[in-house]
Amino acid sequence: MKYKFVLALISISLLSGCSNQVKDINWKFWESSSSDQINEEANQDQPPEENLEPEEKPTEVNKPDQEETEPNEDEYLLEEPFFTVLNKEKVIENTDNILLVVNKEQSLPADYVPDDLVIPDVSFSFDGDYDKKYLREEAARALEELFAAASEENIELFAVSGYRSYETQYGIYNSYLKKWGEEKTNAVSAIPGHSEHQTGLAMDVSSRSAALDLTEQFGETPEGKWLNDNAGKYGFIIRYPKDKKVITGYEYEPWHLRYVGKEVATYIYEEDLTLEEFFDRAIKQ
Ligand code: DAL
Ligand code: ZN
Repeated sequence: MKYKFVLALISISLLSGCSNQVKDINWKFWESSSSDQINEEANQDQPPEENLEPEEKPTEVNKPDQEETEPNEDEYLLEEPFFTVLNKEKVIENTDNILLVVNKEQSLPADYVPDDLVIPDVSFSFDGDYDKKYLREEAARALEELFAAASEENIELFAVSGYRSYETQYGIYNSYLKKWGEEKTNAVSAIPGHSEHQTGLAMDVSSRSAALDLTEQFGETPEGKWLNDNAGKYGFIIRYPKDKKVITGYEYEPWHLRYVGKEVATYIYEEDLTLEEFFDRAIKQ
């Protein structure tokens, strides 16, 4: 009953244009990848897991890694882009909506920067005042609640990478592309403008048991399991779940949290949906 209410609310919000970008999700985009193609992709050698996000990879707790790991903005902006903008892209207009959907089909304007970014009061895997510490305020407060609840159960989490500008994503994506080529890169990294990190609503999280890395192994640790089971209560979803690449377009990322608010997050967790499936269901209501 409660869930019907949540779906009804979302439907009203869609009809009133509050989240109108989701009406234009072109599901044919994903259907155009046949399951054969997808299995083929999955069977190919993937990039080494520990290198999935080298730019964000912390070395040790409390050791700044920014200088070593994030490309120098001036340098990479001078480089020719290795990517081409997706043909079917739709640029999101209602950028401040907490429920916005950023994916391979929908992008943020290149100059979008949330205007309420703050640093959550949680443990980070590195020191220093870097962009990647920031989240939008509502998401930051929710992350604080999540980390506090974890701590009460002796689960020690570390925030690794939050807000990322278009330019930073440009550098990350371009460097992957040079190393791995288009197919592997597109399975793990978003084209600039298409990363949830630019929304200020996403935070990558890890634990000492996963060496503070952003790897699939984190999902098997006590901290990763706790996060999967409890993130929804605090308004977060695991945005790229296992075996949902056919829908999200990305490999499993047990570390990538996306804030959507408690009701929607709980619904998505209990119904085992992706954000795309959730909106598809809400639209059809
Ligand atoms: N790794 C996620 C998909 C990103 O690049 O935003
Ligand atoms: Zn992430």
